Parts: sequence; C-alpha cells; structure tokens
Amino acid sequence: MSNAMTGGPRRIAGDGAVVARAPAKVNVHLRVGPLRPDGFHELSTVYLAVSLFDTVTARPGEGIALTVRGEGSAAGQGPASVPTDRRNLVWQAAELLARHAGVAADAHLDVDKSIPAAAGLAGGSADAAATLVALDALWGTRATRGDLAGLAAQLGSDVPFSLMGGVALGTGRGEQLSPVLARRRCDWVLGIAGEGLSTPTVYGELDAMRTDGTAAPHAEGAGDAAEPVIAALRSGPTSALAATLTNDLQAPAVRLRPELRRALQAAAEAGARAAVVSGSGPTVAALAEDEDAAVRLAASLAGAGVFRTVRAVHGPVPGARLVG
Ligand code: C5P
Repeated sequence: MSNAMTGGPRRIAGDGAVVARAPAKVNVHLRVGPLRPDGFHELSTVYLAVSLFDTVTARPGEGIALTVRGEGSAAGQGPASVPTDRRNLVWQAAELLARHAGVAADAHLDVDKSIPAAAGLAGGSADAAATLVALDALWGTRATRGDLAGLAAQLGSDVPFSLMGGVALGTGRGEQLSPVLARRRCDWVLGIAGEGLSTPTVYGELDAMRTDGTAAPHAEGAGDAAEPVIAALRSGPTSALAATLTNDLQAPAVRLRPELRRALQAAAEAGARAAVVSGSGPTVAALAEDEDAAVRLAASLAGAGVFRTVRAVHGPVPGARLVG
C-alpha cells in the first residue's frame, strides 16, 4: 500500500506546506522484564493514544531547518528542553526517511508542541512519527505503512505506536505492536509536572530497586497479564479498567520524585476512578468516569497545586496522519 497514511491524494497547501499531527500516549499497562544486552528492557505494555497532539509542518527548503514552539520550546510553556538540532528526533526522522527513499534531506520543519517533553507521554516520538508522515507526502516517497513502521522502530521504542495510534499491545522493547480493536472511549485527566524525568534514569532506578529488593522482580509470563486490561478497554465499565491499571515504572518514578505520591493521592481525592504514572513519568494519568467527570476532575486538579498544568483528554485516537 503506498501513501498509507494519507488515505488519498497528497494534501499540499498553496505554499507547498504539508501538515501532520500525532497523539500522545498513555501506558495503561506496563510490565518491565529483564534488562537485555542491548541496554533495553523487555516489555509487555498496552498503549493508548490520547487526544493531545503535536503538529509538524513540512515545507520545501534546502537542507533541514527546524523550529519548535509550544511545550518545551525556548519561548513556550515548561522548562526549555527540546533541542532544535540533530539531537531532535524530528531531524533524525527526516534524515532516515531521506536515506531510505534515496532523496535529498531537504525540508523546513516547524513543530508545534502541545505534548510536554520528558513527561512519559511520548511527545518526541509523536513528533518523529508526524515527521515521517509529513515528509512521505512532501517528498512523494510512496513508503508503505510497513516501511514507515520499520523506520519508526529505528528512531525509538515508542515511535511505531505514535504512527499506529489507537490501542496496541507492545512487546520487545515496545516497538513490536499488535493492534487491539477497542472502540470504547475512555476519559482521562493528565496531570503534568513542572520538571520532566529522563527515561533511562527511571529504568535504571527500577533496576537498582530490583537489585536492592525494594521493587518486586519482573513477573514471568508478563504477556498474559495484559489480557484483563485489553478486555477492559474493549468493553465494560470504567471500574473494570480502573482495576487493571499497572505500571512497573511508577515505583522508581516516585522514588526519584517523591512529590508524585502526593499528586497520585490528589487525583484519587479529586474523584479519579484510578490514577497511574504514565510511562516513565512524571505525568499522572487520572481515569474519569466520562467526559463530564473529566472536566470536573481537571478543574479540581488544576486547583490542587500539585501540577504545572492539567489536560482533559480521551482515547483511543488515531496515530500520525495528515491534517488540513
Ligand atoms: O527507545 P527510546 O529511545 O525511547 O529509549 C530511551 C531509553 O529508555 C533507552 O536508551 C533505555 O535506557 C530505556 N528503555 C529501556 N527499555 C525499553 C525502552 C527504553 O530500558 N524497552
């Protein structure tokens, strides 16, 4: 299948701009297995794409030029942490796709970030996935969905999911995906902290806690344990989903950021059905009964003074695709 993400003709505006957007994710289930020789941990995770999006605009240009605005940018909200050079996954995605397609890496890329950086929401991965989709269209590379997924996996463990969206079971280091047909809507409030957390640091803390006995060793046969959360995402009451939320990275994130304990407690006191740290944190994902409850929960958590900002979101939503 060519131009898999566009679902139709290439959409290029008058100035030659192509716009793509990609969602944030929450891990509703995250079991961390052993550390592998390549430095990654074996995972069993259930990803859920939620309605908080970053947008990448690609325009014809010579060489790669990159601007970033919004969350994590020098002029935006939150600590400025997003690089605008080759260290940015957007830049790496452009170079990788150009090499794959045998075209010159010529594009001006503007990233508009709503997903906070280093928050456990796969913001950088969303930007990389949106870049692959935008540049596939801009350059007319006619990459297949499989081609783009292969490139995504080279960029980072979460990038294939940012491309796919919806709900998926992730294994390997998170990049091997099995899509899950789950149309049931769920509503969340994301509680976003002032400072980000480094993903490798959180994984390292979990290893240290397992060595000193302060965290349980990884569970054998962790893949099977994802079944209840998948069933709860497919159908059933919010309470069933609430009962299945798990994240092995929560304990190390809380040890590194003790104030997360208060944040999780604040979510419970404000009426969340359940609350869990998203990925490697420090974002707290608080599950609400429905959309109205999420709006009320967001208002209450905004006033609790434990988060820099809060966002009411819902899932599942589609992965990276062209807009406009
Ligand atoms: O793949 P990604 O670039 O997102 O991974 C960032 C870091 O997170 C890795 O270098 C590794 O330290 C840690 N990680 C891990 N096991 C995974 C995914 C990430 O240890 N499955």
